[in-house]
Amino acid sequence: MTEARYSCALVTGASAGIGAEFARQLAPYCATLVLIARRSERLVELAGELERAHEGLRVMPLEADLTDPSARLQAVGHLLSKGLVPDLLVNNAGMGDYGEFVTSDWMKIESMLRLNVEALTHLTHALLPTMIEQGKGSIINVSSLASILPIPDFAVYAATKAYVTSFSEALRIEVRDRGIRVMALCPGPVHTEFGQIAGRGPNTDFGAREWFYVPQGQVVAEALAGIAADRPRVYPGLKIAVAAAAISLLPIAIIRLVMSTRPRK
Ligand SMILES: NC(=O)c1ccc[n+]([C@@H]2O[C@H](COP(=O)([O-])OP(=O)(O)OC[C@H]3O[C@@H](n4cnc5c(N)ncnc54)[C@H](OP(=O)(O)O)[C@@H]3O)[C@@H](O)[C@H]2O)c1
Repeated sequence: MTEARYSCALVTGASAGIGAEFARQLAPYCATLVLIARRSERLVELAGELERAHEGLRVMPLEADLTDPSARLQAVGHLLSKGLVPDLLVNNAGMGDYGEFVTSDWMKIESMLRLNVEALTHLTHALLPTMIEQGKGSIINVSSLASILPIPDFAVYAATKAYVTSFSEALRIEVRDRGIRVMALCPGPVHTEFGQIAGRGPNTDFGAREWFYVPQGQVVAEALAGIAADRPRVYPGLKIAVAAAAISLLPIAIIRLVMSTRPRK
């Protein structure tokens, strides 16, 4: 095995999409990899695949519904009881809901708030003290390009990601001199299972052009390079980085105009 860059990396939402890709790219650089999601059969399969491919790697699949605060604490307690203190936390698990807010299903909105905002904050709060005690640790919070745009039909999702980016930037400053790195990863569109879950019914087309999509592999490679370089924020893919720079320079009045003419669901 390549010399471990992380003694223990924890990835939430590792049963699919960007989280599974994080697990694959981290595997050569970890001694222990902890994978959390609800679909444990997928985690077990991925754990087996990674352990077979990387001699000496230990992968621990942990089934947990992260919308449930007690399940989060149970997962963290389980790790700490085994002496496992993550020195990399990837808060990746997340979901969206695409469509008008007024007709949204409250249960879905509540799950999204609990997962995208509360679980990410809670896991960070639970693990940060032990990272600080160790004098080192890195946290990648998976946000979105949507975090810098108020998006009609993605109103709550974009707002949850605005929280993630803002929280990450502020926390980074608080803990920087204690050896902890915090980075917000802000991808644009990526082909994963996200669309099926965010969509209401068969229409999972969010109006993003195909050329705007960035491959999962590139998103994760840029994220891992970004945290290694202690960057505060990463917008993976040149076109996404250019779009983010343009959005950041635009006055809010122009953003309102552009968003109000965007094709709606
Ligand atoms: N895809 C995009 O275009 C895009 C763009 C920007 C940002 N992002 C962000 O990237 C992150 C990963 O999304 P993805 O695109 O890879 O989506 P995905 O393919 O749907 O994967 C989501 C992951 O989160 C897990 N998850 C969902 N609900 C959970 C719960 N209650 N408890 C524990 N785990 C849960 C899922 O596992 P189980 O279902 O097995 O629990 C799955 O492993 C999200 O934060 C998303 O907002 C995605």
